Amino acid sequence: MSKRTLVTSALPYANGPIHLGHLAGAYLPADLFTRYRRLKGNDIIHISGSDEHGVPITIAAEKKGVSPQEIVDEFHERNKKVFKEFGIEFDYYGRTSSPLHRETSQEFFKTLNDKGIFIKKSEEQLYDNEINMFLPDRYVTGTCPSCGHEEAYGDQCEKCGTSLSPVELINPKSVLTGNTPVSRETEHWYLPLGKLQPEIEEWINSRSGWKANVMGQCKSWLKEGLNDRAVTRDLTWGVPVPLEGAENKVLYVWFDAPIGYISATKEWAREQGDEDLWKTYWQDSETSLIHFIGKDNIVFHCLMFPLMLMKHEDYILPENVPANEFLNLEGRKLSTSKGWAVWLEEYLKDYEPDLLRYVLGTTLPETKDSDFAWKDFQIRINSELADILGNFVFRALSFTDNFFDGMVPELKNPGEKEIKALEEIDKSKDRISQSYEKFRFREAIAETMNLARTGNKYFTETEPWKTRKEDPEACGNTLHVSIQICAALSVLFTPVLPQKMERLRKNLGLKNGLLWDDVNQSMIKTGSKISSGEILFHKIEDEVVEAELKKLKTRAGVGKTKTSYVPLKKTTDFKNFASLDFRVGLIKNAEDIPDSDKLLKLTVDLGFETRTILSGIKKQYDPEAITGKKVCVVANLEPKKMMGIESNGMVLMAEEEDGDLHFLSTDAKIGSPVF
Ligand code: MF3
Ligand code: ZN
Repeated sequence: MSKRTLVTSALPYANGPIHLGHLAGAYLPADLFTRYRRLKGNDIIHISGSDEHGVPITIAAEKKGVSPQEIVDEFHERNKKVFKEFGIEFDYYGRTSSPLHRETSQEFFKTLNDKGIFIKKSEEQLYDNEINMFLPDRYVTGTCPSCGHEEAYGDQCEKCGTSLSPVELINPKSVLTGNTPVSRETEHWYLPLGKLQPEIEEWINSRSGWKANVMGQCKSWLKEGLNDRAVTRDLTWGVPVPLEGAENKVLYVWFDAPIGYISATKEWAREQGDEDLWKTYWQDSETSLIHFIGKDNIVFHCLMFPLMLMKHEDYILPENVPANEFLNLEGRKLSTSKGWAVWLEEYLKDYEPDLLRYVLGTTLPETKDSDFAWKDFQIRINSELADILGNFVFRALSFTDNFFDGMVPELKNPGEKEIKALEEIDKSKDRISQSYEKFRFREAIAETMNLARTGNKYFTETEPWKTRKEDPEACGNTLHVSIQICAALSVLFTPVLPQKMERLRKNLGLKNGLLWDDVNQSMIKTGSKISSGEILFHKIEDEVVEAELKKLKTRAGVGKTKTSYVPLKKTTDFKNFASLDFRVGLIKNAEDIPDSDKLLKLTVDLGFETRTILSGIKKQYDPEAITGKKVCVVANLEPKKMMGIESNGMVLMAEEEDGDLHFLSTDAKIGSPVF
């Protein structure tokens, strides 16, 4: 363990409320880790804050008809508050609109510029003459050159998944005015990732202990070759580029946002009354820097930001970036625009934070996408929190209260069962530590629950309700041992269940401020007075689950009876139809294309040959889940290059009203024609 640790969690855009996907991606794992390390006595701080720049903010403002400032002011406060209520303990929650952030990111840009790191390039960009503004990709719509979809965005066609640049669109329109934009030359500062690739590659290759999903993505980006990235934009919302001749330009949001970690640490240091304290966390080689993020942020945190830090030369580099995959909800991709999400503010109106911390913690998307379902929420709470942990603690405390006047009985002539149960405390403590250190939070939580399971089982097997009369010494031993396990749990479960464990410690008469190393087999002395047990966890009824599901489905309009059908295309002749060659194919392999939001790269066996086909199904399907599927392929479509890869054909999909995609599967032999 490092002497000192700086944990950051991705700065969420202050353009909307926090939902379960945010929590599972970055904030809960970051908080679990920080709380655990703090118990270990590590000098650790957790920094985050609002990302208040960039197109996501201005688009949200546009949609609501308010100014970007109003949007960020609202969501900064709301998000900060809800994180606190949920028990995410930030040492500082900053915002990128702060003066110190502006100063820090401008200094960063200037330093890199003075060192000659950037290159300047001219390029053609679409410009809206009416409002005198260059249009960001998302501010242009038009017809997709690849599928003819009329509402493709300047960066991507949502229909066919092709990634685009605004100048490729047919009939481009400005989202802001509806005008046809004109092409105009503009100049930008680029971080030349292409040229710098060898340095970053060497650094990545020297990393150890990184998660496979993170390393895999980095390697795949590097294999494809990094593209230079513009770090300036022609916008007014953002940090102004601090150079003459760069009026009306701001820093690219992905340039300034990660610097937000630094500026927030500076603000934290100020708050501590020691202006220079931030340097210990950012510039001392005995500090380890750990970024918690979701997988869509990997490229920025593993390649771009480290390179910026490297080139600035005064900073430490991240020791690890334990990025998580995505969380689905009830088997579907989470979608805030479709209402398919659970927002934290909404959750906290009805339930306690610790319940979700536990359930989400046991299903974090650590190695692959995972799913949150209300039924699992109920099962985990009822059969684990209530039936195991809650039941054990309740029995141990109330038995002691009822039959021993609340005084912890002595351990006399312990048998093998007692010794074994007590030894589990030390063994569990080590195993849990190891899991936390490896960022395996699901495993850490399961191990902690296993200790409660051991205690509960021990209690049941030693039958104190019988020995109470027949063998009071044995009964006393059962309670002594059980109370010690409860005491251990009250510390070991604290990262996950901070509120509940605080109550438990109070009931056990334990002092505040206990650390991990205080956990042992005799945390509570014989004769100590404890309170009577209380029900820590109440069960969740079936009706609650049903109501949550109904609420979700109603809001997202899922399963509504009236379907609207896409209008039929105009009649075509048989010859036209017969010119298309459909075949049965087998998906032999499916691979992620990290650069693309939509596309998967499929290797499809048509019997007579094997093809590479790109398919816009990434949002809906896991590559592993579709390998081995038989599908229907348009086999004589002309090849098309997307994301630098040639696609040879198209896999047919049925699209439901809500955008859900389904394969057209068949049992027929591979290569068979379909007509
Ligand atoms: N706002 C970004 C997102 O929500 C994350 C920014 S992380 C930082 O995806 F490093 F840039 F701060
Ligand atoms: Zn398209």
